[in-house]
Amino acid sequence: MTASIALKTPAKVNPILEVLGKRADGYHELALVFQTVALYDELDFSESPRGLHLEILESPFPLAADDSNLILKAAKLFFTEILQEERGVQIRLKKKIPLAAGLGGGSSDAAATLLGLDSLFKSQEGAGKRMALAAQLGSDVPFFLTGGTALGTGRGEKITAWTPGPEMALVLVKPQEGLSTPAVYQSGKAVMTKGDRAHDFKAVLREGNMAKIGRALFNGLEPATFFLRPEVEAIKKRLLEAGALGALVSGSGPTVFGLAESPSQARHIGAEMEGKGHSVFAVQTVPVGAI
Ligand code: C5P
Repeated sequence: MTASIALKTPAKVNPILEVLGKRADGYHELALVFQTVALYDELDFSESPRGLHLEILESPFPLAADDSNLILKAAKLFFTEILQEERGVQIRLKKKIPLAAGLGGGSSDAAATLLGLDSLFKSQEGAGKRMALAAQLGSDVPFFLTGGTALGTGRGEKITAWTPGPEMALVLVKPQEGLSTPAVYQSGKAVMTKGDRAHDFKAVLREGNMAKIGRALFNGLEPATFFLRPEVEAIKKRLLEAGALGALVSGSGPTVFGLAESPSQARHIGAEMEGKGHSVFAVQTVPVGAI
């Protein structure tokens, strides 16, 4: 029997994203809070005599299974840098997390690939090496190695795990067209702040008062997302009018998440947001990463 590993890997939202400044290397210095949510891509890794191969079994949108895919980039890095030998593996993907959405789907898949191949081929490398490779793949990838609730600093790749926050009921609303992350950062419309909101959010989460959490949500990239895609601001307004305790663009967008009082209220608000080609998901936050 060929060995195989199946993983479900989650999306994220950022309840806080502060842009602290622009760096000499072109990236932006950030202080941001990551939170995994129960919207999962499904990945399956099995040993194969036919080399490295990615098969997309299911995807609601066009998705290339070529070298531009972060799953294949992660697999190649795993073989060269961690295992230091080429092995055959068939990777199957069921894609559920929208692309170019601010939900971290590609980064989550990349992290799950490092984790999946590590357990399939039982490499001897420690978590430190895996973290370094994850940071090479993208700023959001290290977070997804552990998931849950965490603070990100640097360009977002330096992760400090936080005690998981209270379970939150969210509505995710993603307009049909995605948005390119570099375009948002390079628009010149981001608001710079000093990192206090990210720091203070730890205590707000610990207190667990949903109305307070709703009021504390902040994203310095939001004005840039609204500038590039004015309809996103209208989505935020509608979420608040429908009763969300707070609403915010996630990451560089264009997905907006609304915080609800309960899962049933999240479903109710979600039903009001359907239409106009939006993808709408009522989800709960989860305290872990890939499972
Ligand atoms: O690290 P990642 O490949 O996900 O970043 C994609 C792009 O987003 C970068 O090339 C850069 O334009 C922008 N970015 C940034 N500052 C960050 C993270 C991303 O400017 N901290």
